[in-house]
Amino acid sequence: MSEKFEKSELLKKAREAQQYAYCKYSEFPVGAALLTESGEIYTGCNIENASYSLGICAERVAFAKAISDGHHKFKAIAIIGGIHTEKNCPPCGACRQFMAEFCDDEFKIYLAEKTVRLKQLFPERFVL
Ligand code: THU
Repeated sequence: MSEKFEKSELLKKAREAQQYAYCKYSEFPVGAALLTESGEIYTGCNIENASYSLGICAERVAFAKAISDGHHKFKAIAIIGGIHTEKNCPPCGACRQFMAEFCDDEFKIYLAEKTVRLKQLFPERFVL
């Protein structure tokens, strides 16, 4: 699969997942589509809660779905956030640390307007 095709497919799936965002408090819907090394795509959306801190980001929902199906190796993730616009929605700090547990420096992060590698967003990972 070419990188251009991979990016457009993943962004399309991220947009679809964004429709399911439960974001009544922030009104900021996010969708993510995660590509496993074996070629499966897992999607996620943000899920908020009246007890605000319990909310979870779209990226971590996608990772949790994939990991709980036995996947531990990943190639890329696409992220779409916000409405009426397709600006870049880079992952929050907590999601970067979460990704770093399972993804190497070259893991691709497809944003609406650009593509970055995990090492660019998270150059100094915490490891035990
Ligand atoms: N959010 C994500 O889903 N992913 C991120 O990387 C950043 C923020 C969600 C959390 C919350 O539901 C809403 O966006 C506003 O912060």
